[in-house]
Amino acid sequence: MRYPTILLIPIGIVAAALTWQTNESGPPAEQVAPQVYSQWCSSCHGPKGRDFIDREWKFGSSEQDIQRIIRDGYPLLGMPGYAETLSADDINTLSAFLLEQAASERGFSPTPPDEIQSTDLRIRVNTLVSGLETPWGMDFVDDTTLLITEREGRIWKLSAGKLHALDGLPNDMHVKGQGGLMDVMHWNDSTSGNEWIYLTYSKNKPGDPDYSATALIRAPWNDQGDSFNNWEELFVAEPYEKTHRHYGSRVAIGGDGKLYLTCGERGMRDVHPQTLSTSPGKVHRFNPDGSIPKDNPFLNEPNARPSIWSWGHRNPQGMIAHPISGEIWTHEHGPKGGDELNVARKGRNYGWPKITFGRNYVGTIITRDTAMVGLQQPIHYWLPSIGPCGMEMVYGGPWPESWQTDLLVGSLSFEYLERVEVESGRVTSRERLLDGFGRVRDIARNAQGEIFVAIEGAGTVLHLEPILSE
Ligand code: HEC
Repeated sequence: MRYPTILLIPIGIVAAALTWQTNESGPPAEQVAPQVYSQWCSSCHGPKGRDFIDREWKFGSSEQDIQRIIRDGYPLLGMPGYAETLSADDINTLSAFLLEQAASERGFSPTPPDEIQSTDLRIRVNTLVSGLETPWGMDFVDDTTLLITEREGRIWKLSAGKLHALDGLPNDMHVKGQGGLMDVMHWNDSTSGNEWIYLTYSKNKPGDPDYSATALIRAPWNDQGDSFNNWEELFVAEPYEKTHRHYGSRVAIGGDGKLYLTCGERGMRDVHPQTLSTSPGKVHRFNPDGSIPKDNPFLNEPNARPSIWSWGHRNPQGMIAHPISGEIWTHEHGPKGGDELNVARKGRNYGWPKITFGRNYVGTIITRDTAMVGLQQPIHYWLPSIGPCGMEMVYGGPWPESWQTDLLVGSLSFEYLERVEVESGRVTSRERLLDGFGRVRDIARNAQGEIFVAIEGAGTVLHLEPILSE
């Protein structure tokens, strides 16, 4: 049983008290709470209040404390305030529901099954690693060695079935809210034969760790020891901000040999995405050594940051170089609704927050405009939001023809792996895989075309293997 039984049975004394408090008419509280919760809260806190199970409360554990947080929010961390959206009754009911969840044991250690069935394929699921805290990024350094980051500020090397911790990470990581250690990429410079590891993380502002910014660093990789040294800082997406969210932070090498980095807008939608003079809310483009390519789009624009490649982004947490075209494909989190899949093209503005298919988390309108001259339309938008994180394309390897060039996208909100079929630049079908085993954070493909998936919750890395009848 994945979720504790407490979710399914009436909530006893608390529920009785609540029914007494709330309006006589209308459904009883134990039915209202899960409904209200799934409408407004589950996209960030997981289905059925999972985020609150066995919780150590940050802002106080009394009903009053919890009601206050729901009412007023905590904008720095990204918790919206619901005073205008929910009635006092709803807020009371929710706080009781969350306290019930908090009192229950952490019953969430789902074991993925050995096999899953998709519409057209049986797939074997091999668990390679479990017990990680928040696996965030993965990349192969060779056929058999996988690097895995944890947001809490750790990096692991998985080889021959064993996990080795690697030391020597920067000591100015901002492990808070959505921040910490994020993506990892291995790159083999075929011209020099040098190998590099790139990392992205949220970096403390020097002298003032209340502020942070997305940073990109690299170090040589020679696989000699268990420690990194000689980090080189390539880029900091300034300005540093006080929020702890929307760092974005995927890194990839495009088909053009350039280095791309996604930066989220740091939860400051009216400040960053629509100006070229700051770095957040953009996709950036560099030479692999961090210098600025001569053909970047805004080199001649006064006050523009020269590394900007595309702008008007919200929080892009998925990016790949298309294995055939070499184009940069990204996806990004929308607010409530309106996650987007885009091809990030030179100099283009993707519109956030001037156009969006989403609303504010509390339900209010951001804008009624979903299109505008000069602003790009996404290839696809997700309504409701799936909370996309991590992306890979199935390409080559053991996968059948019907799976080739399908995208695999992690869903944080609904806790599954989404298979997205794209034909001629349009999404033609979507399928849910690995449903309900935890928030899917990242997907990796090795040189053989094999697929690996990192999941929070049980903290697993899974290997997916098609079962083909001969
Ligand atoms: C946009 C994402 C988002 C949505 C939607 C959201 N929250 Fe939160 N909430 C957060 C974040 C981020 C935090 C702070 C980090 C954490 O503790 O998880 C937080 C914190 C909280 C806390 C304080 C937890 C503590 O440890 O003290 C409570 C209570 C809470 N949320 C309840 C709710 C309820 C109830 C709803 C729906 C009405 C809701 N949240 C909707 C993001 C969200």
